[in-house]
Amino acid sequence: MKDSFMHTELAIFKERRRQLLYLLQQSGLSEGLIMLVGSFENKRYQFRQESSFYYLTGIVEPGAVFIMTLDGTTTLYVPRYSIDREGWVSSALLQRFIKEEAIDHVEFLGEAFRGYEVSPLFTFKEYKNLCELIESLISKGKKIYTCASQGYSDYREQKQLLERLTGYVPALSGGIYDISGILAQMRRKKSREEIERIYKAVDLTLVAQEAAARVIDVDKKEYEIKAGIDYVFAESGATSAFPTIVASGSHSTILHHIASSSLMKKGDVVVIDCGAELDYYCADVTRTYPVSGVFSKRQRELYTIVLDCYKLVESKAQPGCWLNNKDYPEKSLYHIAQSFFKKYGYEKYFTHNIGHFLGMDVHDVGTADPLQEGDVITIEPGLYNKEEGLGIRIEDDLWVVKDGSICLSEALPKDIDSVEAMVQATLEAADERNYEEEEEDFNDDGTFN
Ligand code: GLY
Ligand code: MN
Repeated sequence: MKDSFMHTELAIFKERRRQLLYLLQQSGLSEGLIMLVGSFENKRYQFRQESSFYYLTGIVEPGAVFIMTLDGTTTLYVPRYSIDREGWVSSALLQRFIKEEAIDHVEFLGEAFRGYEVSPLFTFKEYKNLCELIESLISKGKKIYTCASQGYSDYREQKQLLERLTGYVPALSGGIYDISGILAQMRRKKSREEIERIYKAVDLTLVAQEAAARVIDVDKKEYEIKAGIDYVFAESGATSAFPTIVASGSHSTILHHIASSSLMKKGDVVVIDCGAELDYYCADVTRTYPVSGVFSKRQRELYTIVLDCYKLVESKAQPGCWLNNKDYPEKSLYHIAQSFFKKYGYEKYFTHNIGHFLGMDVHDVGTADPLQEGDVITIEPGLYNKEEGLGIRIEDDLWVVKDGSICLSEALPKDIDSVEAMVQATLEAADERNYEEEEEDFNDDGTFN
């Protein structure tokens, strides 16, 4: 996150809000106001603003609530702290927003919170001002337009906050209008500027994959590779968009295996699935490497099937098809992959979806409509054979364009020879280093130290 904004960036957030209002008006908006709820801090995690909140405001203040009236007037409700908050975290960014008039008013949510962090389990007093605003609106029959989707894992903290508010203002339960579908529609179609941001995250992810391939070696531990990847991200001011997966040997069949202290062994493959998040945009790229630099005959066989499946699906990815739609199997990328694997009798080893939308979230919001220009998706066929302890996954990031797609992660090779060569380059370098060290151990007369 940069610590200053250009006016052009502030204009982007304003423009998105204008578009949201327009789309809401199109869908028969009545009176009320838009309310966006930000993420909360949590000591266990680094704070990261909720994506839709950021998409519309650019504000990273935790525990904030953004209100916009239907004429576009904006108010940011912020927590009042009982301690000197700036002694704990910097709030310079928010000051900047206020100075540049990116928001019209700033108010306190209510009375002071204890401590320096806001909890979604707040008291009435701590949210008194917001509660009173909501109560007065609802009592006049007005609506609160907010993200309250039915989706199991979407907007979790936001829905928790709404539940809490409803406890204090019971009439709110009948006054909520869910805008998450409209926001998903907006966020799904990426602008050029967003594509550039995703591309930067992808580019950094490719650097991390290449660095990982270079250090893969027999008897290295999975977490050593993971730490290297996360270091590459951190060095560029990025974080991991999701916990980096380094899964060797039989772990390769566990889809979201978390890197452990297991040693990578000769003859193993290692699945590396990682993605940088840079400036609120994510990448997600997977490669499967041979630990000792050469795939076995059986590994080559499975790898080739997965790669051929990838190529087939990529060639079909275009506007008008679906990631997954059982009613149109010939235009459903998942079903195309499934019937490809079926030819080999391997469909039962393909145990997840063919891909997902990618953007501000690694599993980004999307809608059930067919693919459209401006979508960014992942394509990630994989086969996981538990009996053999062998898993192979290949994943790239595609930008859907007018008559096809552009692979944003194309620069990272995935053909067998190149993948082997990437690992071998390291092994050769390591061998050379060992050889030089051994040479140094010998005296000129050939005696050994
Ligand atoms: N890269 C992890 C996933 O897509 O679930
Ligand atoms: Mn993925």
